[in-house]
Amino acid sequence: MSESADILVEVRGLEVHFPIKSGIVFDRTVGHVLAVDGVDLSIRRGETYGLVGESGCGKSTLGKAILNLEPPTAGSIVFDGVDIASLKGEELRRERKRFQMVFQDPLSSLDPRQTVESLLVEGLRAHGMDTDKAKTRARLRELMSAVGLPVAALSKYPHEFSGGQRQRVGIARALSVGPDLIVADEPVSALDVSIQAQVINLLQDLQDELGLTYLVVAHDLAVVRHISDRIGVMYLGGLVEESDGAELYDVPLHPYTRALMSAVPVPDPQVEDTREQILLTGDLPSPANPPTGCRFHTRCPWRQETLCDTERPQLRVVEVEGASASHRVACHWAEQIAAGEIQQHEVAPTLVDQGGSGFGVPDVTEPPHQMQAGDAF
Ligand SMILES: Nc1ncnc2c1ncn2[C@@H]1O[C@H](COP(=O)(O)OP(=O)(O)OP(=O)(O)O)[C@@H](O)[C@H]1O
Ligand code: SF4
Ligand SMILES: [Mg+2]
Repeated sequence: MSESADILVEVRGLEVHFPIKSGIVFDRTVGHVLAVDGVDLSIRRGETYGLVGESGCGKSTLGKAILNLEPPTAGSIVFDGVDIASLKGEELRRERKRFQMVFQDPLSSLDPRQTVESLLVEGLRAHGMDTDKAKTRARLRELMSAVGLPVAALSKYPHEFSGGQRQRVGIARALSVGPDLIVADEPVSALDVSIQAQVINLLQDLQDELGLTYLVVAHDLAVVRHISDRIGVMYLGGLVEESDGAELYDVPLHPYTRALMSAVPVPDPQVEDTREQILLTGDLPSPANPPTGCRFHTRCPWRQETLCDTERPQLRVVEVEGASASHRVACHWAEQIAAGEIQQHEVAPTLVDQGGSGFGVPDVTEPPHQMQAGDAF
């Protein structure tokens, strides 16, 4: 198969900007939240692409844009050779069933007044797939079996299930229309740790069985490592690093990724005592007013006098020992940092301008966050 035939989703120059409105009488736009701001990424058929990054960096917005649930401000999303932004009406409806979403909180995404059967039939009906009663019944049984629920679950309501079972219902609903791509946004973070593994295993089994492609957004680096073939790291609306799963953990190249990795505790006490620890200081800047140049320069312990605050680095392949040709990083100094030619230094705290007009601007970020060792971000 050629490289392009192997690609299911091709995102190029994607931007999703949300207007910030102000004024009671005149609804003025006083700025924009640059939730996704210049993302290029490809998702291969049958792979799991994991997306990580701090709260508010644009992961969910990127996932929604790929599913055509959030209109792009600029750029293109090509799904299996078709530019989905150009689709309308029946064409869009037909294409939509090929990409589905699994949400973080199954309870809020499932209508509490509907039984599982009615929820699933509703999904099928939306795509004209419930015309034959016997076939629909067979399909519902098949779905229950696929997600490991008894057939009797069909007559129950969402509140009658445990969290893990509800997520199985959410997965059944996504599967019901036979998608190729599933975007799972924090699919296990609302679940008890003991249940998380079961749901992750279910997702993996279904992938093997049905040849599904996944984009998984997750905070927990252990979950992402376990489930992903490739991982993208986001910071303030852009991808800063992308690589095969294990390689990202072994050879993190971007200072931000290194800081994230260093915050994950290692079970071996000897390794834990000696491993690199990078504490990020400084608040996460607002996506309404991101820093110039490299967006990470206000917090980067390797920041240099030149380039860092003036030129935005592009994702590029670098020649660094242990980094393969599919490993890309957006840092001007990645080679020098990896070679130890540039040393870490203290980062002076900078005042973060939250952007906008100064009044009537919604709070667009989470509270300031200082990353600490052991944080799941
Ligand atoms: N509909 C919207 N209108 C305005 N701003 C929005 C909208 N949706 C998201 N944002 C803003 O865009 C930025 C990115 O949000 P997004 O939800 O994509 O982040 P995230 O990485 O998924 O965060 P989290 O890990 O907390 O889920 C945030 O600053 C958020 O406040
Ligand atoms: S480009 Fe500069 S500021 Fe950005 S990550 Fe690299 S060293 Fe740090
Ligand atoms: Mg999110």
